[in-house]
Amino acid sequence: MGCRLYFSLPIRTILVGKTRENPYIEAMNELKDLRATPLVEARQTMQTPPSSAMDGPRAGGAPRIPVMVPIRSLGANHRDRIAAHLIRLEPRDRYLRFGYAASDEHIRRYTDGLDFERDEIFGIYNRKLELIAMAHLAYPAEKTYDSCAEFGVSVLKSARGRGFGARLFERAAMHARNDGITQMFIHALSENTAMLKIAKRAGAIVQRDGAEAEAHLILPAATLDSQITEIVHEQMAQVDYRMKAQAQQFRNILAALQKARCADDSSRR
Ligand SMILES: CC(C)(COP(=O)(O)OP(=O)(O)OC[C@H]1O[C@@H](n2cnc3c(N)ncnc32)[C@H](O)[C@@H]1OP(=O)(O)O)[C@@H](O)C(=O)NCCC(=O)NCCS
Repeated sequence: MGCRLYFSLPIRTILVGKTRENPYIEAMNELKDLRATPLVEARQTMQTPPSSAMDGPRAGGAPRIPVMVPIRSLGANHRDRIAAHLIRLEPRDRYLRFGYAASDEHIRRYTDGLDFERDEIFGIYNRKLELIAMAHLAYPAEKTYDSCAEFGVSVLKSARGRGFGARLFERAAMHARNDGITQMFIHALSENTAMLKIAKRAGAIVQRDGAEAEAHLILPAATLDSQITEIVHEQMAQVDYRMKAQAQQFRNILAALQKARCADDSSRR
């Protein structure tokens, strides 16, 4: 194995090993489409993506419709919501994610220990601002391995089968590439079909070793296009988040007004 990373807390990964000619072709095509789309339509695309992405799993074998899923980078102020997301994972999923039966306490320690300066955390929020999917791109603490990164991901059960896992993988790979990373590692259980599919689809070769599987993805060098694509994706995701936050505030104000009105009505009776 070319490169092995060591982290204070285990993160499940996969080892992949095939170079993709252009792993971001889909994202770049989306970007070209978006550039050619009027602002109002682009905003609608981000608010109400096609059913394949937001409304439920795709009907058996239907082709994936390219859609811009707003994936934003998360800072330390999202730590509590990251913990809440991971705590919502069922025991089996925690095992798949961390490689051991992570308790709530383990998860809190993991989230408390997240290094937002060194690593990159990506998230997908729904319109209620619940973190429904997240990925951790972990960089090694040691300089010797500074061209490698390790990928871990989780999607809430209610949001699975809509391509979020795959999109987070693509987003993390794009960021890693732009950050000068040449190899991305993932480690998973051999039975983790969904994760292994994501890795293979991205051009990875999965190596199985009994119950474990490792994947290693060689990333191409960054280009101006890959860097601009990432900036645009991040900006659009930030705008999407702000719009959701404003809508949430507005709903809270309406709920408070409604409550006050009800209290006023009942005091008059
Ligand atoms: C692995 C995981 C992130 C996948 O998330 P997801 O959003 O459902 O994945 P996607 O919708 O992008 O699907 C990716 C592929 O897996 C397939 N897939 C999804 N769930 C599947 C399942 N239970 N069995 C078989 N294939 C499955 C999808 O059909 C898709 O394949 P396709 O592109 O050929 O159609 C999610 O299942 C999860 O959070 N699991 C628990 C944590 C974990 O295992 N993390 C990975 C280790 S770090």
